[in-house]
Amino acid sequence: MPPSAENVPHHVAIIMDGNGRWAKQRGLPRIEGHRRGVETVRTVTLAARDLGVRMLTLYAFSIENWKRPQDEVGALMSLLEYYLKKELDTFIRDRVRLRTIGRTEELPAGVQKILQTTIEATKHFTDYTLVLALNYGSRTEVVDAARAYAAAVAAGKEKLNDSSWATFSRYLYTADMPEPDLVIRTSGETRMSNFLLLQAAYSEFVFTPVLWPDFTKADLSAAIADYNRRERRFGQISEQLKPAAAK
Ligand code: IPE
Ligand code: IPE
Ligand code: MG
Repeated sequence: MPPSAENVPHHVAIIMDGNGRWAKQRGLPRIEGHRRGVETVRTVTLAARDLGVRMLTLYAFSIENWKRPQDEVGALMSLLEYYLKKELDTFIRDRVRLRTIGRTEELPAGVQKILQTTIEATKHFTDYTLVLALNYGSRTEVVDAARAYAAAVAAGKEKLNDSSWATFSRYLYTADMPEPDLVIRTSGETRMSNFLLLQAAYSEFVFTPVLWPDFTKADLSAAIADYNRRERRFGQISEQLKPAAAK
């Protein structure tokens, strides 16, 4: 049964993992796994919206991924540019707003250009947002935020004595985004790999052995159903969450 609309996580974030292993299992070059992974990105972007999700964040390239062999990094960047160029019309047709988190200013010029075009062309869509985490790392995000916060304090725009999570978090890349309700990681790995470490403080996690190129709408739906069986307590106890009248 599909999950009922009110229990659908507003924001789902996915660590898309397992492209390389998918290719290796078939005796194919790793980039072939990434190509198939892009197909999954297309499917899952629309599937999430069909299921009632309002924001989907996809971890597409981490700061640490620069350490991969140069030819793989180059191929990933070309694939990213190709994907964005191909999707521009689709985003407009399907009313998908695109935005990014991460140090996108360090990406190749061609990627930056198509990103800017797409972000600009889709910025007025409000129903559904696809967030690509590109050259993203939580630790770098905190350093960037701390630097911007310190500059704001020095300029008299923030008062150090008023520091709180509410004031500081406005300097993160995710400033105007809701926190992820559900974080999914594919490929059987059970780690965060420097992804949304602060924002996921109270997220629910689903780890699935499915490799990203094999991930389907049914897998997403199953993860959401799993999410629906959880009770998010945010530090409280169960009884506090259910008003007496509702019992
Ligand atoms: C995820 O797949 C894609 C990126 C990190 C860009 P991997 O390339 O990490 O695939 P595995 O983990 O080697 O199977
Ligand atoms: C995390 O996957 C990064 C992305 C999905 C973009 P990795 O495959 O790079 O993570 P590790 O190195 O196995 O932790
Ligand atoms: Mg991996």
